[in-house]
Amino acid sequence: MPTRVIIYSGKGGTGKTTVSAATASLVASQGKRVLIMSSDPAHSLSDVMGQAISRDDLTPLAPNLFGLEIDTIYEMRKNMGGFQRFIASTYEGRGIDSSVAAELSNQPGMDEILSLNRLLLEYRSGNWDCIILDTAPTGNTLRLLAYPEMIIGGNTGKNFFRVYRGFSNFVRPFKNNAPNDDFFKEVNSLMEMMNDLSSFIVNDDVSVRLVLNPEKLPVMETKRAYTFLSLYGIRLDAVVVNKILPREKKLGAYFDYWVELQAKYLDDIEAAFNPMPIFRSILEDVEPIGIEKLRRVGEHLFADKTDPLAQFYDRPLVWVEDLPAQIGPDASKKVRRCLCVYIPFIDDHQELYITHLGTDVHVTAGRIQRNVSLPRILLNSELDNYYYENGVLKLEFAEKPPEVEEEIAWEDDPFFSRSGVN
Ligand SMILES: Nc1ncnc2c1ncn2[C@@H]1O[C@H](COP(=O)(O)OP(=O)(O)O)[C@@H](O)[C@H]1O
Ligand SMILES: [Mg+2]
Repeated sequence: MPTRVIIYSGKGGTGKTTVSAATASLVASQGKRVLIMSSDPAHSLSDVMGQAISRDDLTPLAPNLFGLEIDTIYEMRKNMGGFQRFIASTYEGRGIDSSVAAELSNQPGMDEILSLNRLLLEYRSGNWDCIILDTAPTGNTLRLLAYPEMIIGGNTGKNFFRVYRGFSNFVRPFKNNAPNDDFFKEVNSLMEMMNDLSSFIVNDDVSVRLVLNPEKLPVMETKRAYTFLSLYGIRLDAVVVNKILPREKKLGAYFDYWVELQAKYLDDIEAAFNPMPIFRSILEDVEPIGIEKLRRVGEHLFADKTDPLAQFYDRPLVWVEDLPAQIGPDASKKVRRCLCVYIPFIDDHQELYITHLGTDVHVTAGRIQRNVSLPRILLNSELDNYYYENGVLKLEFAEKPPEVEEEIAWEDDPFFSRSGVN
């Protein structure tokens, strides 16, 4: 059986850590082997579990349940020490203070990549029925999930690595500050890592669940996160509404306003995410700390004996449709296809900007941007029309005539082949 990976994300304080730990405790009590990991630097998993959790060794928390708090600074030093030292020494060589140089050597996005890689290693180990990832607040997590694809998927990423390759040739003559073998080894494994991560994150075993509360801002943020995840082809399979005030309890007049307001937002959430499953959890009368209380939260959450590990929603996010061929005045025939990208929650047509550059289509939807790498079948085609309809962006392509066929060489570039990065 493949390992199921569930990533809980959402705004700060909505209950990501609690819901992650509740799911993990429930699933472990059902006899499955479970690992719960946290990529939040706040290290609140230990607090919620009521037990110290290691950053290195898997900490046993209950029968079948192990925990790990990912420490990105530690992972960085462990995996990228040579790389960091070289970048820092390069800055220092230019007269930059060593503490500033050390800061600069932390390349943006690297900690996200190393956290995700830690998850990938556990996924590949075959030791687990399920891995649950509790994450930092939404913004960081979306970056975490999109980074490998951003870097490896678009032209920007390819250029990024070309710079490093050029760098190695450039620095060789300067013997006094030449990168050593560790540097190249680490840059190479970083590239392979990103390649692997960008396919891992969109594979069938992995899905994201968004945790929110029935309040205005979390609802808005959750919709934006859904749009973003869909653009990156990352599956969202459920929404968890946490901290609902129990209606059946007598809360007193003071809470009437809040109960009504929550009811309104619950309707909004229903309308927005339907037909995606929505799980609900009430605001408990105590803080759910420790395995026993967490397991009970989990039991209420998946009350109707639903398997918490199920893939609850599996809508395709990107697909290609054939269109009728275009017949020219000279009876020539142009094959036409439509690349469909599911992007929920874009109301305003004006908000979409599309540009087609080489192997990528650049999509700007409001404040969200993405390069969609074209599937092979569309590489020799031109974008000739697009529109947005029922949550789906439709990009229509017509095949170019053979004589203007362009060489698309990067796939054959040995630099990008999985094994031979030299
Ligand atoms: N259903 C709930 N009932 C009562 N308290 C909750 C519930 N869910 C979360 N909490 C409490 O709310 C606080 C924030 O929850 P936490 O899981 O740490 O959120 P996040 O990880 O999203 O920041 C914690 O003190 C937690 O114990
Ligand atoms: Mg948390």
